[in-house]
Amino acid sequence: MNEQQESPGEARRDFIKKASAVAIGGVITAVPIAAGARVLMDPVKAGGGGMQRIKVTTLDSLPKDGTPRKFPIVASRKDAWNRFPDAPVGAVYLRRIGETSVEALNVVCPHAGCFVDFRAEMKGYYCPCHNSLFHVDGKIADPKSPSPRGLDTLLAVVEGNEVWVEFQNFRTGTAHKVPVA
Ligand code: FES
Repeated sequence: MNEQQESPGEARRDFIKKASAVAIGGVITAVPIAAGARVLMDPVKAGGGGMQRIKVTTLDSLPKDGTPRKFPIVASRKDAWNRFPDAPVGAVYLRRIGETSVEALNVVCPHAGCFVDFRAEMKGYYCPCHNSLFHVDGKIADPKSPSPRGLDTLLAVVEGNEVWVEFQNFRTGTAHKVPVA
């Protein structure tokens, strides 16, 4: 056999090496392209967001009679290009439902995204955009409400005197809670 010629074993090894290089190169190229396409299609979503565990207030600051209080949620936020430390990302209503238990509701109306207001005289939350009413626990109070679901509950945890909320925004206009990533 000529020294220049490869044996069948060498040729097979060479072929496998080249095929592996092409496959790895393909993966290395495809990952940034996919990430870039995602950013172009939805820059805010691609930057993250999602659920954040936030210390909102103290238990002492919540009325013992169960009247809800509204609190802004301030957290770090980022889009595809920028990071915004300590930026407002939403708000919650908190109310005591026991000695050391708290219920949290996102203030965003699930119909079209307006902020609801607690109205003591109505014993519930009022959405000024389409006159919807929700019970104090967030359930729909008005049978004609255009909202497809009640107000979105969030997990609230009491640690000592601190009230923490797992804050999350959800899509509007859907019957089920769909987290905004
Ligand atoms: S946005 Fe609240 S009822 Fe339409």
